[in-house]
Amino acid sequence: MGPLAVTQLLALISLTVALDNGLLKTPPMGWMAWERFRCDIACIDDPKNCISEGLFRDMADRLSEDGWKELGYEYVIIDDCWMSRLRDKQGRMQPEPSRFPGGIAQLAKYIHDRGLKLGIYADIGTHTCMGYPGTTLDKIDIDAQTFASWGVDYLKFDGCSSNAVEQMLGYPLMSKALNATGRPMAYSCSWPVYVGGLPPNVNYTFLGDICHLWRNYYDIQDSWDSVLSIVDWFSNNQDDLQPAAGPGQWNDPDMLIIGNFGLSVDQARSQMALWAIMAAPLIMSNDLRNLDNSARTILQNKMAIAINQDPMGIQGRRLLQEKSHVEVYWRPLSQSASALVFLSRRTDMPYLYHSSLGKLSYDAGNYEAYDVFTGATVTGLNATTEFTFSINPSGVVMWYVYPKKASKQTKVLRKTSKLTWQKTVPRHRIVL
Ligand code: GLA
Repeated sequence: MGPLAVTQLLALISLTVALDNGLLKTPPMGWMAWERFRCDIACIDDPKNCISEGLFRDMADRLSEDGWKELGYEYVIIDDCWMSRLRDKQGRMQPEPSRFPGGIAQLAKYIHDRGLKLGIYADIGTHTCMGYPGTTLDKIDIDAQTFASWGVDYLKFDGCSSNAVEQMLGYPLMSKALNATGRPMAYSCSWPVYVGGLPPNVNYTFLGDICHLWRNYYDIQDSWDSVLSIVDWFSNNQDDLQPAAGPGQWNDPDMLIIGNFGLSVDQARSQMALWAIMAAPLIMSNDLRNLDNSARTILQNKMAIAINQDPMGIQGRRLLQEKSHVEVYWRPLSQSASALVFLSRRTDMPYLYHSSLGKLSYDAGNYEAYDVFTGATVTGLNATTEFTFSINPSGVVMWYVYPKKASKQTKVLRKTSKLTWQKTVPRHRIVL
Protein backbone atom coordinates (compact mmCIF):
# COMPACT_ATOMS: atom_id res chain seq x y z
CA MET A 1 0.00 0.00 0.00
CA GLY A 2 1.44 3.40 -0.99
CA PRO A 3 1.71 6.26 1.54
CA LEU A 4 -1.27 8.09 0.04
CA ALA A 5 -3.54 5.07 0.30
CA VAL A 6 -2.45 4.60 3.91
CA THR A 7 -3.28 8.22 4.77
CA GLN A 8 -6.65 7.98 3.07
CA LEU A 9 -7.47 4.76 4.87
CA LEU A 10 -6.52 6.29 8.23
CA ALA A 11 -8.63 9.37 7.51
CA LEU A 12 -11.58 7.14 6.72
CA ILE A 13 -11.17 5.06 9.85
CA SER A 14 -10.75 8.14 12.05
CA LEU A 15 -14.11 9.42 10.87
CA THR A 16 -15.72 6.33 12.24
CA VAL A 17 -13.70 5.68 15.40
CA ALA A 18 -13.09 7.70 18.52
CA LEU A 19 -12.52 6.22 21.92
CA ASP A 20 -13.68 9.03 24.14
CA ASN A 21 -15.18 7.22 27.08
CA GLY A 22 -13.85 9.71 29.61
CA LEU A 23 -11.25 7.31 31.01
CA LEU A 24 -7.66 8.10 31.95
CA LYS A 25 -7.91 11.86 32.24
CA THR A 26 -4.69 11.40 34.20
CA PRO A 27 -2.09 8.66 33.53
CA PRO A 28 -3.15 5.20 34.71
CA MET A 29 -1.64 3.83 37.93
CA GLY A 30 -1.41 0.25 39.03
CA TRP A 31 0.54 -2.97 38.75
CA MET A 32 1.38 -5.22 35.81
CA ALA A 33 2.91 -8.68 35.85
CA TRP A 34 5.32 -8.60 32.92
CA GLU A 35 8.67 -7.07 33.91
CA ARG A 36 8.87 -8.89 37.25
CA PHE A 37 7.09 -12.18 36.56
CA ARG A 38 7.42 -12.55 32.77
CA CYS A 39 6.11 -15.85 31.41
CA ASP A 40 6.72 -17.96 34.49
CA ILE A 41 4.23 -20.77 34.05
CA ALA A 42 6.08 -23.24 36.30
CA CYS A 43 3.32 -23.40 38.91
CA ILE A 44 4.47 -26.73 40.29
CA ASP A 45 8.02 -25.56 41.04
CA ASP A 46 7.22 -21.90 41.66
CA PRO A 47 3.59 -21.68 42.80
CA LYS A 48 3.84 -18.22 44.40
CA ASN A 49 5.35 -16.53 41.36
CA CYS A 50 3.85 -18.22 38.33
CA ILE A 51 1.27 -16.47 36.10
CA SER A 52 -1.89 -17.71 37.80
CA GLU A 53 -4.98 -16.35 39.51
CA GLY A 54 -3.21 -16.60 42.89
CA LEU A 55 -0.54 -14.11 41.83
CA PHE A 56 -3.13 -11.53 40.77
CA ARG A 57 -5.20 -12.07 43.90
CA ASP A 58 -2.06 -11.59 46.02
CA MET A 59 -1.27 -8.31 44.24
CA ALA A 60 -4.88 -7.11 44.59
CA ASP A 61 -4.67 -7.84 48.33
CA ARG A 62 -1.48 -5.84 48.63
CA LEU A 63 -2.80 -2.91 46.59
CA SER A 64 -5.94 -2.71 48.68
CA GLU A 65 -4.38 -3.38 52.11
CA ASP A 66 -1.03 -1.59 51.96
CA GLY A 67 -2.12 1.94 51.12
CA TRP A 68 -1.61 1.80 47.34
CA LYS A 69 -5.23 2.08 46.27
CA GLU A 70 -5.77 5.31 48.20
CA LEU A 71 -2.82 6.83 46.34
CA GLY A 72 -4.36 5.96 42.97
CA TYR A 73 -2.71 2.62 42.13
CA GLU A 74 -5.86 0.86 40.96
CA TYR A 75 -5.25 -1.37 37.92
CA VAL A 76 -4.12 -4.98 38.32
CA ILE A 77 -2.99 -5.95 34.85
CA ILE A 78 -2.47 -9.46 33.54
CA ASP A 79 0.18 -9.60 30.80
CA ASP A 80 1.13 -12.39 28.39
CA CYS A 81 0.87 -16.16 29.04
CA TRP A 82 -2.55 -16.24 30.73
CA MET A 83 -4.36 -17.91 27.84
CA SER A 84 -5.12 -21.44 26.98
CA ARG A 85 -3.56 -22.43 23.66
CA LEU A 86 -7.08 -23.38 22.50
CA ARG A 87 -10.21 -21.30 22.07
CA ASP A 88 -13.47 -22.79 23.38
CA LYS A 89 -16.18 -24.34 21.19
CA GLN A 90 -17.73 -20.92 20.54
CA GLY A 91 -14.36 -19.55 19.41
CA ARG A 92 -13.86 -17.55 22.61
CA MET A 93 -10.52 -17.08 24.23
CA GLN A 94 -10.18 -18.81 27.58
CA PRO A 95 -7.60 -18.74 30.34
CA GLU A 96 -5.30 -21.71 30.89
CA PRO A 97 -7.53 -23.77 33.22
CA SER A 98 -4.80 -25.25 35.39
CA ARG A 99 -3.51 -21.78 36.30
CA PHE A 100 -6.84 -19.88 36.30
CA PRO A 101 -9.30 -22.54 37.49
CA GLY A 102 -11.86 -19.94 38.63
CA GLY A 103 -11.83 -18.13 35.28
CA ILE A 104 -11.25 -14.45 34.58
CA ALA A 105 -14.76 -13.27 35.50
CA GLN A 106 -14.29 -14.59 39.03
CA LEU A 107 -10.86 -12.97 39.27
CA ALA A 108 -12.38 -9.69 38.03
CA LYS A 109 -14.98 -9.92 40.79
CA TYR A 110 -12.27 -10.50 43.40
CA ILE A 111 -10.43 -7.41 42.13
CA HIS A 112 -13.57 -5.25 41.86
CA ASP A 113 -14.64 -6.26 45.38
CA ARG A 114 -11.44 -4.62 46.59
CA GLY A 115 -12.18 -1.38 44.75
CA LEU A 116 -9.62 -2.13 42.04
CA LYS A 117 -9.76 -2.67 38.27
CA LEU A 118 -8.62 -5.52 36.06
CA GLY A 119 -6.46 -5.27 32.95
CA ILE A 120 -5.76 -8.02 30.43
CA TYR A 121 -3.39 -8.62 27.50
CA ALA A 122 -3.99 -9.61 23.89
CA ASP A 123 -2.12 -9.29 20.57
CA ILE A 124 -3.24 -8.27 17.08
CA GLY A 125 -1.03 -10.89 15.40
CA THR A 126 -1.36 -14.63 14.93
CA HIS A 127 0.43 -15.13 18.25
CA THR A 128 1.34 -13.10 21.32
CA CYS A 129 5.01 -12.27 21.88
CA MET A 130 5.35 -15.50 23.88
CA GLY A 131 3.50 -17.62 21.31
CA TYR A 132 0.00 -17.76 22.81
CA PRO A 133 -3.09 -17.32 20.58
CA GLY A 134 -3.48 -13.94 18.95
CA THR A 135 -6.51 -11.81 18.18
CA THR A 136 -6.39 -11.80 14.38
CA LEU A 137 -8.65 -9.34 12.54
CA ASP A 138 -11.52 -11.83 12.38
CA LYS A 139 -11.38 -12.35 16.18
CA ILE A 140 -11.41 -8.72 17.29
CA ASP A 141 -15.14 -8.45 17.95
CA ILE A 142 -15.50 -11.71 19.79
CA ASP A 143 -12.45 -11.02 21.97
CA ALA A 144 -13.62 -7.50 22.85
CA GLN A 145 -17.02 -8.93 23.79
CA THR A 146 -15.46 -11.72 25.83
CA PHE A 147 -13.30 -9.27 27.77
CA ALA A 148 -16.31 -7.04 28.45
CA SER A 149 -18.39 -10.03 29.59
CA TRP A 150 -15.67 -10.93 32.09
CA GLY A 151 -15.65 -7.39 33.54
CA VAL A 152 -12.27 -6.36 32.18
CA ASP A 153 -11.44 -2.64 32.61
CA TYR A 154 -8.22 -2.25 30.58
CA LEU A 155 -6.75 -3.91 27.51
CA LYS A 156 -3.06 -3.95 26.60
CA PHE A 157 -3.05 -4.78 22.89
CA ASP A 158 0.37 -5.95 21.69
CA GLY A 159 1.63 -6.30 18.12
CA CYS A 160 3.92 -9.34 17.84
CA SER A 161 3.44 -11.66 14.81
CA SER A 162 1.53 -9.08 12.79
CA ASN A 163 2.35 -6.98 9.73
CA ALA A 164 1.93 -3.24 9.16
CA VAL A 165 -1.41 -3.58 7.37
CA GLU A 166 -2.88 -5.79 10.09
CA GLN A 167 -1.75 -3.26 12.68
CA MET A 168 -3.22 -0.36 10.73
CA LEU A 169 -6.56 -2.08 10.51
CA GLY A 170 -6.51 -3.93 13.81
CA TYR A 171 -5.73 -1.17 16.29
CA PRO A 172 -8.64 1.09 15.18
CA LEU A 173 -10.95 -1.89 14.83
CA MET A 174 -10.26 -3.00 18.39
CA SER A 175 -10.95 0.56 19.57
CA LYS A 176 -14.30 0.42 17.82
CA ALA A 177 -15.04 -3.06 19.14
CA LEU A 178 -14.27 -2.01 22.73
CA ASN A 179 -16.58 1.00 22.31
CA ALA A 180 -19.30 -1.22 20.92
CA THR A 181 -19.34 -3.43 24.03
CA GLY A 182 -20.68 -0.49 26.05
CA ARG A 183 -18.24 -1.29 28.86
CA PRO A 184 -15.76 1.53 29.47
CA MET A 185 -12.35 -0.05 29.02
CA ALA A 186 -8.98 1.69 28.91
CA TYR A 187 -7.10 0.84 25.73
CA SER A 188 -3.31 0.59 25.60
CA CYS A 189 -1.86 0.23 22.10
CA SER A 190 1.63 -1.14 21.42
CA TRP A 191 1.33 -0.15 17.73
CA PRO A 192 4.01 2.61 17.71
CA VAL A 193 6.73 0.21 18.95
CA TYR A 194 6.22 -1.97 15.90
CA VAL A 195 6.64 0.88 13.40
CA GLY A 196 9.62 2.69 14.93
CA GLY A 197 7.80 4.96 17.37
CA LEU A 198 8.07 8.21 15.38
CA PRO A 199 6.30 10.19 12.66
CA PRO A 200 5.75 9.81 9.78
CA ASN A 201 5.31 6.10 10.53
CA VAL A 202 3.27 6.91 13.63
CA ASN A 203 0.36 9.33 13.40
CA TYR A 204 0.10 10.50 17.00
CA THR A 205 -2.99 12.62 16.36
CA PHE A 206 -4.86 9.58 15.16
CA LEU A 207 -3.48 7.41 17.95
CA GLY A 208 -4.78 9.93 20.47
CA ASP A 209 -8.26 9.48 19.00
CA ILE A 210 -8.32 5.70 19.27
CA CYS A 211 -6.12 4.75 22.25
CA HIS A 212 -5.76 6.04 25.83
CA LEU A 213 -2.07 5.22 25.97
CA TRP A 214 0.55 3.66 23.79
CA ARG A 215 3.95 2.05 24.11
CA ASN A 216 6.39 4.02 21.96
CA TYR A 217 9.67 2.24 22.54
CA TYR A 218 11.38 -0.99 23.57
CA ASP A 219 10.63 -2.96 26.73
CA ILE A 220 12.08 -1.87 30.02
CA GLN A 221 14.47 -4.33 31.72
CA ASP A 222 15.63 -4.48 35.33
CA SER A 223 18.61 -2.13 34.97
CA TRP A 224 19.61 1.53 35.18
CA ASP A 225 20.99 1.30 31.61
CA SER A 226 17.53 0.36 30.43
CA VAL A 227 15.90 3.27 32.31
CA LEU A 228 18.46 5.70 30.85
CA SER A 229 18.06 4.39 27.29
CA ILE A 230 14.30 4.97 27.56
CA VAL A 231 14.68 8.47 29.05
CA ASP A 232 17.21 9.36 26.33
CA TRP A 233 14.98 8.16 23.51
CA PHE A 234 11.95 10.01 24.85
CA SER A 235 13.95 13.20 25.41
CA ASN A 236 15.77 13.09 22.08
CA ASN A 237 12.40 12.78 20.37
CA GLN A 238 10.40 15.05 22.68
CA ASP A 239 9.39 17.44 19.89
CA ASP A 240 7.40 14.62 18.31
CA LEU A 241 6.24 12.87 21.48
CA GLN A 242 5.53 15.56 24.07
CA PRO A 243 2.65 17.27 22.18
CA ALA A 244 0.93 13.90 21.69
CA ALA A 245 0.17 13.54 25.41
CA GLY A 246 -2.77 15.04 27.26
CA PRO A 247 -5.82 13.99 29.29
CA GLY A 248 -7.02 10.64 27.92
CA GLN A 249 -3.92 10.09 25.74
CA TRP A 250 -0.51 9.19 27.13
CA ASN A 251 2.91 8.14 25.95
CA ASP A 252 4.00 5.03 27.83
CA PRO A 253 7.73 4.61 28.51
CA ASP A 254 6.86 1.27 30.20
CA MET A 255 6.65 -0.07 33.74
CA LEU A 256 8.20 1.18 36.99
CA ILE A 257 10.86 -1.35 38.03
CA ILE A 258 11.36 0.17 41.50
CA GLY A 259 11.52 -2.55 44.16
CA ASN A 260 13.26 -5.14 41.97
CA PHE A 261 16.98 -5.90 41.67
CA GLY A 262 18.47 -3.51 39.15
CA LEU A 263 18.23 -0.01 40.65
CA SER A 264 19.99 1.62 43.58
CA VAL A 265 17.89 3.83 45.88
CA ASP A 266 19.06 6.93 44.01
CA GLN A 267 18.25 5.36 40.65
CA ALA A 268 14.81 4.33 41.91
CA ARG A 269 14.12 7.96 42.90
CA SER A 270 15.33 9.00 39.46
CA GLN A 271 12.90 6.68 37.71
CA MET A 272 10.00 7.93 39.83
CA ALA A 273 10.96 11.58 39.22
CA LEU A 274 11.41 11.21 35.48
CA TRP A 275 8.20 9.20 35.04
CA ALA A 276 6.37 11.97 36.91
CA ILE A 277 7.88 14.61 34.60
CA MET A 278 6.99 12.54 31.52
CA ALA A 279 3.32 12.19 32.59
CA ALA A 280 3.95 8.46 32.24
CA PRO A 281 1.65 5.69 33.44
CA LEU A 282 2.74 4.69 36.95
CA ILE A 283 2.39 0.96 36.47
CA MET A 284 4.65 -0.96 38.80
CA SER A 285 6.03 -4.37 37.98
CA ASN A 286 7.52 -5.66 41.20
CA ASP A 287 6.64 -8.05 43.99
CA LEU A 288 4.35 -6.06 46.29
CA ARG A 289 4.55 -8.91 48.83
CA ASN A 290 8.28 -8.30 49.30
CA LEU A 291 9.06 -4.65 48.94
CA ASP A 292 11.68 -2.91 51.03
CA ASN A 293 10.87 0.32 52.79
CA SER A 294 12.88 2.55 50.50
CA ALA A 295 11.08 1.27 47.39
CA ARG A 296 7.71 1.63 49.11
CA THR A 297 8.51 5.16 50.25
CA ILE A 298 9.57 6.21 46.76
CA LEU A 299 6.56 4.65 45.02
CA GLN A 300 4.20 6.11 47.62
CA ASN A 301 5.67 9.63 47.48
CA LYS A 302 2.55 11.80 47.44
CA MET A 303 4.15 14.80 45.80
CA ALA A 304 5.75 12.76 43.00
CA ILE A 305 2.36 11.14 42.40
CA ALA A 306 0.55 14.49 42.46
CA ILE A 307 3.00 15.88 39.91
CA ASN A 308 2.47 12.84 37.70
CA GLN A 309 -1.30 13.15 38.04
CA ASP A 310 -1.51 16.91 37.48
CA PRO A 311 -4.93 17.65 35.95
CA MET A 312 -3.56 19.76 33.08
CA GLY A 313 -1.85 16.63 31.79
CA ILE A 314 0.98 18.44 30.01
CA GLN A 315 3.98 16.18 29.50
CA GLY A 316 7.32 17.64 30.60
CA ARG A 317 10.51 18.11 28.63
CA ARG A 318 14.27 17.92 28.98
CA LEU A 319 15.37 21.55 29.26
CA LEU A 320 19.12 21.33 29.49
CA GLN A 321 22.04 18.97 29.12
CA GLU A 322 24.89 20.62 30.99
CA LYS A 323 28.58 19.98 30.25
CA SER A 324 28.81 18.77 33.84
CA HIS A 325 26.51 15.84 32.88
CA VAL A 326 23.64 17.25 34.89
CA GLU A 327 20.37 17.29 32.98
CA VAL A 328 17.38 19.45 33.87
CA TYR A 329 13.81 18.36 33.18
CA TRP A 330 10.74 20.57 33.58
CA ARG A 331 6.99 20.11 33.58
CA PRO A 332 4.35 22.87 33.79
CA LEU A 333 1.61 22.15 36.33
CA SER A 334 -1.72 23.61 37.29
CA GLN A 335 -1.96 26.71 39.53
CA SER A 336 1.12 28.25 37.88
CA ALA A 337 3.31 25.65 39.53
CA SER A 338 5.93 23.50 37.85
CA ALA A 339 8.22 20.56 38.55
CA LEU A 340 11.97 20.46 38.02
CA VAL A 341 14.19 17.40 38.04
CA PHE A 342 17.95 17.74 38.19
CA LEU A 343 19.48 14.40 37.12
CA SER A 344 23.17 13.68 37.53
CA ARG A 345 24.57 11.29 34.94
CA ARG A 346 27.95 11.42 36.60
CA THR A 347 29.62 8.31 37.96
CA ASP A 348 32.16 9.88 40.32
CA MET A 349 30.73 11.50 43.44
CA PRO A 350 27.92 13.82 44.58
CA TYR A 351 28.07 16.95 42.41
CA LEU A 352 27.46 20.51 43.60
CA TYR A 353 25.14 22.04 41.04
CA HIS A 354 24.63 25.83 40.80
CA SER A 355 21.83 27.54 38.94
CA SER A 356 18.93 29.95 39.25
CA LEU A 357 15.32 29.76 38.13
CA GLY A 358 16.05 32.55 35.65
CA LYS A 359 18.70 30.38 33.98
CA LEU A 360 15.97 27.75 33.63
CA SER A 361 13.73 30.26 31.80
CA TYR A 362 11.50 31.16 34.74
CA ASP A 363 9.88 34.59 34.65
CA ALA A 364 10.70 37.26 37.21
CA GLY A 365 8.76 36.77 40.44
CA ASN A 366 8.91 35.19 43.84
CA TYR A 367 8.85 31.44 44.28
CA GLU A 368 9.14 28.66 46.80
CA ALA A 369 10.19 25.13 46.10
CA TYR A 370 9.31 21.89 47.87
CA ASP A 371 12.00 19.24 47.64
CA VAL A 372 10.01 16.12 46.70
CA PHE A 373 12.34 13.53 48.21
CA THR A 374 13.63 15.33 51.33
CA GLY A 375 10.48 17.21 52.28
CA ALA A 376 12.42 20.46 52.71
CA THR A 377 10.96 23.79 51.56
CA VAL A 378 13.23 26.27 49.83
CA THR A 379 12.03 29.80 50.56
CA GLY A 380 13.14 33.20 49.36
CA LEU A 381 13.60 32.32 45.71
CA ASN A 382 13.25 34.75 42.88
CA ALA A 383 14.34 34.28 39.30
CA THR A 384 17.85 35.56 39.94
CA THR A 385 18.50 33.85 43.29
CA GLU A 386 21.50 31.56 42.91
CA PHE A 387 21.01 28.15 44.46
CA THR A 388 23.39 25.29 45.03
CA PHE A 389 22.72 21.69 45.97
CA SER A 390 24.35 18.31 45.77
CA ILE A 391 23.11 15.61 43.39
CA ASN A 392 24.21 12.00 43.88
CA PRO A 393 25.60 10.03 40.91
CA SER A 394 22.66 8.63 38.90
CA GLY A 395 20.38 10.43 41.36
CA VAL A 396 18.06 13.39 41.23
CA VAL A 397 16.95 16.45 43.10
CA MET A 398 13.29 17.07 42.38
CA TRP A 399 11.49 20.34 43.09
CA TYR A 400 7.85 21.33 43.06
CA VAL A 401 8.08 25.08 42.35
CA TYR A 402 5.20 27.45 43.06
CA PRO A 403 4.72 31.21 42.96
CA LYS A 404 4.90 33.04 46.25
CA LYS A 405 3.78 36.56 47.02
CA ALA A 406 6.66 38.48 48.58
CA SER A 407 6.19 38.69 52.36
CA LYS A 408 8.26 40.69 54.84
CA GLN A 409 10.23 37.59 55.66
CA THR A 410 11.11 36.73 52.08
CA LYS A 411 12.03 40.37 51.37
CA VAL A 412 14.56 40.26 54.18
CA LEU A 413 15.87 36.99 52.93
CA ARG A 414 16.26 38.37 49.46
CA LYS A 415 18.29 41.33 50.77
CA THR A 416 20.72 39.03 52.43
CA SER A 417 20.32 36.71 49.39
CA LYS A 418 20.23 33.69 51.61
CA LEU A 419 18.04 30.63 51.10
CA THR A 420 16.34 28.84 53.92
CA TRP A 421 15.58 25.15 53.92
CA GLN A 422 12.81 24.02 56.21
CA LYS A 423 11.32 20.65 56.84
CA THR A 424 7.65 21.49 56.24
CA VAL A 425 4.81 20.70 53.90
CA PRO A 426 4.29 23.24 51.12
CA ARG A 427 1.73 25.88 51.89
CA HIS A 428 0.68 26.08 48.28
CA ARG A 429 -2.28 23.81 47.76
CA ILE A 430 -1.72 21.04 45.26
CA VAL A 431 -4.36 18.73 43.95
CA LEU A 432 -3.79 15.28 45.37
C1 GLA B 1 6.15 -7.40 24.45
C2 GLA B 1 5.67 -6.21 25.27
C3 GLA B 1 5.95 -6.45 26.74
C4 GLA B 1 5.25 -7.72 27.19
C5 GLA B 1 5.70 -8.89 26.32
C6 GLA B 1 4.88 -10.14 26.59
O1 GLA B 1 7.54 -7.56 24.49
O2 GLA B 1 6.31 -5.03 24.84
O3 GLA B 1 5.52 -5.35 27.51
O4 GLA B 1 3.86 -7.54 27.08
O5 GLA B 1 5.54 -8.59 24.93
O6 GLA B 1 5.27 -11.21 25.82
